[in-house]
Amino acid sequence: MAEAHSSKLRLDQVVSALTSTKFTSGSTHNFYLYPARFSPEIARTVIETFSQPGDYVLDPFMGGGTAIIEGLMLGRSMIGIDINALAHFVANTRTRPLSPCDEERIREWAHGTAHCFSDFRPEPLPQVKNLPPTVKLLMGRALKMAERLPFSRQRAFARCVLLRLGQWALDCRDHEAPSQRNLAEKLPMLTDQMLSGLQEFVTRCHEAGLRSNRIVSQRLLLCRNAVGLDQEPKLRDLAARPSLVFTSPPYPRVHVLYHRWQVRGRKETPAPYWIAQIPDGHYASHYTGGSRTPTGERNYFSLVRAVFSSVRQVITHDGLVVQLIGFADIDNQLPKYLNAMADAGFEAWRPAGSQVDRFWRRVPNRKWYAKLKGTVDASSEVLLFHRPRC
Ligand SMILES: C[S@@+](CC[C@H](N)C(=O)[O-])C[C@H]1O[C@@H](n2cnc3c(N)ncnc32)[C@H](O)[C@@H]1O
Repeated sequence: MAEAHSSKLRLDQVVSALTSTKFTSGSTHNFYLYPARFSPEIARTVIETFSQPGDYVLDPFMGGGTAIIEGLMLGRSMIGIDINALAHFVANTRTRPLSPCDEERIREWAHGTAHCFSDFRPEPLPQVKNLPPTVKLLMGRALKMAERLPFSRQRAFARCVLLRLGQWALDCRDHEAPSQRNLAEKLPMLTDQMLSGLQEFVTRCHEAGLRSNRIVSQRLLLCRNAVGLDQEPKLRDLAARPSLVFTSPPYPRVHVLYHRWQVRGRKETPAPYWIAQIPDGHYASHYTGGSRTPTGERNYFSLVRAVFSSVRQVITHDGLVVQLIGFADIDNQLPKYLNAMADAGFEAWRPAGSQVDRFWRRVPNRKWYAKLKGTVDASSEVLLFHRPRC
C-alpha cells in the first residue's frame, strides 16, 4: 500500500515537471542554448524517479548534455553520446570542474581581451560565412588570446564563453546588433556568470556525494553515432550496465538547426565550429536523422530502429527507456515510431499508478512552430516509456 502510494507520488512529480512552464536555469545550463534541449526540471525528475544514486544512466542523443548535468548532480554515473562534435564539446565543458587557478587565468583572458579591443588591427582570419565582421573580429582576437592559456580545459572554457557570446550577439531579439565595444564589455560579465554556474554545478554534485575530482570519471561522453553503440569498446569497461535510458531523439521531419547559427533568424553561419575549433562538414540531415522528404523519413525510422537495437544490447535486461519526442504529424508518425521501438525489441511500459503509458506536454517557446504553418503537432511532445521485451 505504502509502495503504491509512493509510486503514485513519484509519477505525479513527473507529470507536474512535464506540464510546468517554469523556466529552469542555473548550474551550467545556460552555457550554450542547444536547439531542442529538454527542460532540466524534466530531466531531473525522470532521473530521480527511475534510478538510484550510483546507477548508470544513458542518453544516446545527449545534445548539449542537459540530462548529463542533472544526472551528475543527483550522484548518477552518466553516459552521453552524440554524433555532433559541437554537442560533445559543450557537454564536456559544462561538466568539467576548474581549479581556482584555472578560474583566475580565464578571468585574466576575458579582461585582457576586453581591454585591448580598441587596438584590434585587421588581421587575416579564416572565411566564416555570414558572420558579421564586428563579431568575427572580436572572436578572432579572443580566440588568439585563448590559445595562450596553458591548459586545454581553460582554452575549452574560454571558447565556450565565446560560443555563448556569439549566440547573444546574433540573436538580437532584445537588443540592437552589438558593436565591438558592447561585445568586449559583455565578455568579462559572461565569463563571471559562467564560472559561477560551474561552481554551482560542482557544489550540487558534492551535495549528492560526488567530489569535484570524481566528476570527470563519473561521466563517459562520446562523440559518435549511437548506431553500433554495443560495439563501443569504452562501454565494455564499465562496472555496470545502464538501468535507465533518458533521451530526446531528433524529431521526424522537424527541421532543427543543430549545427548552424542563424544571423538575426535568417542567414546561416558555421561559426560555432570555428569558435569551438572542432571539425564541421555535414549537412543538416546528418544531425536530424533524415531530411523532410519521404526517403528522409524512412531513413529516420531506420535510424531509430538501429539505435534502439544497439541500446537494447547495452542496458540491463529490465532497463527502462524514457524518451521525450515531438512529431511533425502525430497520427502518421507516432505509430511508425512505436513500430520502430517494437522492431528494436522494446514494448511499451506503463508506470505503476498510471492509467496510460505516455504523457503529453505543450512545448513552450519552440522556434519551429512558425515554420509549420497551420499544424500544431510539433508544439506537443510525448513522454514514452519502454522496457526490453522478454
Ligand atoms: C533533440 S536533440 C537532444 C537535445 C538534448 N536532450 C539536450 O537537452 O540538449 C537530438 C540530438 O541527437 C543527435 N543525433 C542525431 N543523430 C544521431 C545519431 N545517429 N547518433 C547520436 N546522436 C545523434 C543530434 O546531434 C542532436 O544533438
